[in-house]
Formats: sequence, C-alpha cells, structure tokens
Amino acid sequence: QSVAILFGGKSVEHQVSINSAKNVYEYIDKEKYEPVLIGISPQGKWFQKTEIDDNFELKDELHLILRADQGGFYNQHTRQSIIPDLVFPVLHGTDGEDGSIQGMLRVINKPFVGTGVLGSAISMSKLYSKRLLQSAGIPVSKFLSFEYHEKDKINYAHISGALGIPFMAKAANLGSSVGIHKVKSETDFATAVADIFNFDSTVIFEQFIKGRELECSVMGNETPQASLPGEIAVSPDYEFYTYKAKYLDPQAAKLVIPAEVDTQVSEKIRELSIRSYLTLKCEDFARVDLFLTDAGEIMINEINTIPGFTNSSMFPMMWKERGISFTELITRLIEMAEK
Ligand code: DAL
Ligand code: MG
Repeated sequence: QSVAILFGGKSVEHQVSINSAKNVYEYIDKEKYEPVLIGISPQGKWFQKTEIDDNFELKDELHLILRADQGGFYNQHTRQSIIPDLVFPVLHGTDGEDGSIQGMLRVINKPFVGTGVLGSAISMSKLYSKRLLQSAGIPVSKFLSFEYHEKDKINYAHISGALGIPFMAKAANLGSSVGIHKVKSETDFATAVADIFNFDSTVIFEQFIKGRELECSVMGNETPQASLPGEIAVSPDYEFYTYKAKYLDPQAAKLVIPAEVDTQVSEKIRELSIRSYLTLKCEDFARVDLFLTDAGEIMINEINTIPGFTNSSMFPMMWKERGISFTELITRLIEMAEK
C-alpha cells in the first residue's frame, strides 16, 4: 500500500511540519507501507521528493499537478503519475490542518489520515472551537475577539477590564504559538495586536490562566480513547510555552508523562478531552491542550487535529507511555484512514 506523506506547506509551521514528517517517514512500517514523499513549498508548489528536507529550489522537473480524475498527482516533465492509496497529511496550520487539504482529498476520493473538513476547520480556529466547546458546557477561559475591520474598537482598557492583567493575545488561526503574546501593559498590547494582524485577520484575547499546562492525546472515531495526560512544565525563564520553548530550546520545558495528578483529576481530564474531541468533530486522532488551574479546575485551551510528531512533541510520547510504539501508532492511524 502506498502512503503519500505530505509535508512542508504554506503555513508558519512549515519547518515544524518537516520535522514531524521526518519522524513519520523514519518510523512508518516500511514492510507494510510504501511511503511516497510529497513536499509543499512555502509558496504552495507541490513536489515529488526523495527525502524530507526544506530544499524546494531547482526542482521544477519534480513539480506535481493534481490529477483529480485519477485520484493523484502528475509530473508533467517525467509524465509520471503518482497515485497513492492514501494520504497522510503531516502538515500543520493554514492550508494543511484547517480543512483545505482535507477538502481537496475528499473531492478526489482519496482516503486520508485524520479529521475531515468540518472538524479541521473548526479546530484550527481558536475562536470558533472555543465558542462550540463553551456551548457544549466544556470549561474554557474567558475570551473576546475582533476581526481586522473592527480594529478601531480594540481598546486596552476595555479588554484588560474584562479579562484582567495579564491576558493573552492570540492570532486566532495559527499553531505552534506563532502570533501569541502575553500582555502586561498597553505597550505590549499595541505590539501584540500589530503582530497578530500581520498573520491573521482575527485576534482573540483570553484570560491568562494561572496553573499547570497539560495535554491529552485522543485516538479513534465512534468510541475514541484517551491517553493519560502529560504535563509541560515550562521553565520560569519563559512567560508561556512559546515557539522557541517548544522547538528551539531543549532546556525550556520538562515533559512529564504521565502528569503527576490525582487519578480523579486524570480521569476527568481524559473524559473532558474525549468530549471536546467529539464536540469539535475530530476524527482518527488529535491532541487536546488544557490547563489545570491553581483552584483545581480543568479548562480546555485548544485541540490540534494534526499534532506535532517532532522530537519534542507530546502526542507520540503519550502513546508510548501507553505501550504503543511510534511505528504501531502510525499503523493505527493509517488503518483508521482506510475505513
Ligand atoms: N501545532 C503543533 C504542531 C502542535 O500542536 O503540536
Ligand atoms: Mg495549536
């Protein structure tokens, strides 16, 4: 069975996707599956690749076009078609995790790993996912949001009055903490808003949650299963779990799996994670990010429908703790895509 691994892409998480895909490629069971590598450049061009790297230069002869009628891709130079049996989009963020690629694959009748169009689109939006979780009675932090065209209404006194100081300012549709700021002053605020509107047309302001940062992995469909929660203990050198802390500084966070919490708390986290997963129409797999507040309350932060598979990513680590190796995990995900 041939499995196309899609990596790279147009989003700000291009490099994270490359690092995730390297691991998927390394650990995929090559006796069962024949991996086919397809890289997407930062400009959005698709290429047939022989290895997973960030080289998208001088490869025009490998440029692929979509062959919707054949359920695959076509190289105009070599006149070769690539028709994978299924696709594993190892893409994060815009145009990869937000339903767009998923819609394209659905239209060409290609089975793929992961959440479909609706769940991907909802989950990518920190705003719409929170609204839905909230309406399902799942605890989320207090928030306010504005579109770019409402930018004249964005007012520090109003927001800090509603949410307290500090508060978080986030680009609503990005991942890996890009476009996320902790705001402590009016100066921080102006910088944050200007930065966010460089990336995104929606800004969301959230109450800053004092507490521990935990994650829980979920897999499955009608009756999804949750891993035990893991904890990210971010060093006090960081204000929160930033991009740098996630991927560039190995000393920035201690990952504790399973998280040291009471069984009761752990069970509650798993139950809320599964409820969130079902509420947001997730399929096959996702990672739920949450807080355990100092007051002992659980608050769902967000869901990632294509969580990272990098060396510092929690999703595979949490399943490893449950006795599922990386290779077995990838096999399970591919088997779910086939159904
Ligand atoms: N958005 C990154 C890849 C994650 O959630 O792991
Ligand atoms: Mg995310």
